[in-house]
Amino acid sequence: MEKTEVKRRIVLVPVPAQGHITPMMQLGKALNMNGFSITVVEGQFNKVSSPSQHFPDFQFVTIPESLPESELERLGPLEFLLKLNKTSETSFTDCIRQLLLQQGNDIACIIYDEFMYFCGAAAKEFKIPSFIFSTSSATNQVSRCILSKLNAEKFLIDMEDPIVQDKMVENLHPLRYKDLPTSGVGPLDILFELCREIVNKRTASAVIINTVSCLESSSLARLEKELWIPVYPLGPLHLKSSAISGLLEEDRSCIEWLNKQEPRSVIYISLGSIVQMETKEVLEMAWGLSSSNQPFLWVIRPGSIKGSKWIESFPEEVSKMVSDRGYIVKWAPQIEVLGHPAVGGFWSHCGWNSTLESIVEGVPMICMPFDGEQKLNALCLESVWGIGFQVQGKVERGGVERAVKRLIVEEEGADMRERALVLKEKVKASVRSGGSSYKALKDIVNYLETE
Ligand code: UDX
Repeated sequence: MEKTEVKRRIVLVPVPAQGHITPMMQLGKALNMNGFSITVVEGQFNKVSSPSQHFPDFQFVTIPESLPESELERLGPLEFLLKLNKTSETSFTDCIRQLLLQQGNDIACIIYDEFMYFCGAAAKEFKIPSFIFSTSSATNQVSRCILSKLNAEKFLIDMEDPIVQDKMVENLHPLRYKDLPTSGVGPLDILFELCREIVNKRTASAVIINTVSCLESSSLARLEKELWIPVYPLGPLHLKSSAISGLLEEDRSCIEWLNKQEPRSVIYISLGSIVQMETKEVLEMAWGLSSSNQPFLWVIRPGSIKGSKWIESFPEEVSKMVSDRGYIVKWAPQIEVLGHPAVGGFWSHCGWNSTLESIVEGVPMICMPFDGEQKLNALCLESVWGIGFQVQGKVERGGVERAVKRLIVEEEGADMRERALVLKEKVKASVRSGGSSYKALKDIVNYLETE
């Protein structure tokens, strides 16, 4: 290979989880369409399904398992990630060494999920440029920067004071200290350690975020100041390239069911790929949805009801009631569902991908966040963009029924829908020629071609 020749291969390293693999593969497709070859490095579990069918031009490489998946349950997600990063450096460095030999040194860049920061060592050793890829919001990144500077013990004491809890985070309206994403993820000291590791950019040249500048301009500006490297907001990636990488099979029969429903009458319920609920809460949901008198499409993922395989624990009367007004699937083609004219609202856990997908289709949301990062997204949906509202406290049938009516039937929901449609147009404009996300992708491509 000539010295002056542009390097064309990009190595991608996703986190092996649905909400991370999908946007990473979409990024891969977008770069592939711009002339780059793609190599995806994966571990042993949650591999991209049917890669030769959906990504025939991509190369897939598996590195040996440094930490068994079973450790995830024992250690919890935070400690698992810390340990995975400590144990994966060597096998990844060996893998890059092999790839460089095979590809005649043709690797333009390593793009790794922010949680896979072990990749930084190989990038440094072989002097390959690297980018960090984030699948959550810019506001979440800024929050991590703040958390990375805190001491867990002191934070806990400070947060006992209601004045501190309600204090606004500087330049991040409407975030208060109590909104920082610390809850529901694990011990604080381990969370802060992980934040420090993620925020440490090592040798990365830039951060790519699946967000849009019109949604998060102040967080993006603050993030650039915190990190001192360029930040490229190039989302929503699913508008740039469709990349099927689902770990579960989509049940398309729900589209036929939707075809039979009135325009904007259906509430779509999905809580993403990780969240689990208690049987009691799910039954309360079922009663509330049914008594709302609105049709509903409900994704109940196998294993998402604690202690059950699927919905075998539903009493017969509940199954009967649900099938009168609703339709349940194990996994839906979510983007298509949200774009269907029958869908009037989305009851969501507010994962960042679901949030972006709903915004792109102009669908207002009922927000039921579970952990810290989802709570941030819910806060933005409710208080910044005004296209959703949060349901708080225990799940009980009366609250479920009221929330559905508020969104689908009442004027308040209609106002949210109007705002959602305005936002949809802004976000869609950002990926069109001249838009902010369009420019961000061009800037990345230029960078990679001139490095
Ligand atoms: C988690 C975090 O919540 C998220 O914020 C982070 O960025 C990635 O990890 P997850 O809980 O799975 O992700 O939620 P979300 O980010 O919303 O991603 C779920 C994805 O699964 C979406 O792309 C959605 O379209 C897809 N999905 C969900 C389906 O394709 N079918 C379904 O039935 C349900």
